Amino acid sequence: MTAIRSLRMIALIFGLGPICLASPAAAQFAPPPIPPHSAHPKATPESVSQGKDLFAGTCANCHGIDGSGANGPNIQGVGGTLGPEGLYATIRGGVPGTGMPPFATLDDATIWKIVDYVSSLGHENAGVATGDPKKGKAIYESNGCASCHTIDAEGGDLGPDLSHVGAQRSIVSLEKTLTDPGGNLPLDTSLQERSAYPAYMMYRAVKKDGKAVEGMRVDEDSFTMQLRDSSGHIQSIQKFEVQKIEPEPGKSFMPSYKDKLSATQINDLVAYLSSLGGAQ
Ligand code: HEC
Ligand code: HEC
Repeated sequence: MTAIRSLRMIALIFGLGPICLASPAAAQFAPPPIPPHSAHPKATPESVSQGKDLFAGTCANCHGIDGSGANGPNIQGVGGTLGPEGLYATIRGGVPGTGMPPFATLDDATIWKIVDYVSSLGHENAGVATGDPKKGKAIYESNGCASCHTIDAEGGDLGPDLSHVGAQRSIVSLEKTLTDPGGNLPLDTSLQERSAYPAYMMYRAVKKDGKAVEGMRVDEDSFTMQLRDSSGHIQSIQKFEVQKIEPEPGKSFMPSYKDKLSATQINDLVAYLSSLGGAQ
């Protein structure tokens, strides 16, 4: 523990903290090359309904049949963020370093039908953010978000780097995280690689002396598990010393803002977040 902690201290002193600790986020920005493909045929009611059947068989066990998420994240409204080409690329190539697998063997016609169905999900409130991003930025700054999140290399690292979150997540998904944090984390621990940030999954370890440690799983081997507690410290748990280690699906260090912010404020905050990293 001390070794890890002092390494971290050194990293922080040299300003390398975000690079060392948040490196999984960087992995997301190396998408594999997408093979040449046919143009997107115009969506029709038939293509959407055939896409739904294909989605049910191929994608729904991770994303839910309505795209509201299960072991994978909520993808309602993601069509508004990624567009048809972006969806094609995500399906064909997967999201490297996460639980989203590449679907290399589906043919173009099949993928485009799935794209049409996914684009139809969460349509009413999907597309564009309606709030005021400037007000949202002020809300971000006055609610302690930066104690856990980094934007453009400024802030804490208990939660994921949000510098590009607007390009990565849909409006629906952003809103859901603010009101139901942890909801996008996997329910099934065998799928904990689902996110680019598997380390955000929470665990609770109860030692033989009855003392409990709760934290995000940073690392694990046969004998130890490293949990990062709410103050950011890494605690190394010797497995032979514990009565039990249990995952806490759906739980997150992020507090819910459902009752702390008004609907208008959440709308403004979502508008701010969705503006991040979009214009590259
Ligand atoms: C105590 C630490 C903490 C605070 C405070 C906090 N967050 Fe989080 N946040 C996290 C953690 C941990 C995660 C990852 C797990 C999850 O999704 O619940 C997260 C996830 C997120 C995500 C999802 C990122 C993605 O890639 O999908 C967004 C967006 C977000 N937070 C925004 C905010 C905003 C805005 C605030 C302030 C109003 C805030 N957070 C306050 C810890 C925090
Ligand atoms: C084994 C589980 C699994 C299956 C099957 C799966 N996905 Fe995913 N998907 C994920 C995970 C996990 C992510 C989140 C990756 C990340 O952390 O960015 C994801 C991400 C996505 C995203 C990007 C979401 C965003 O907010 O950027 C889209 C779009 C998507 N999946 C569509 C599909 C479609 C369409 C299918 C079926 C062809 C499918 N997925 C099958 C697990 C899965």
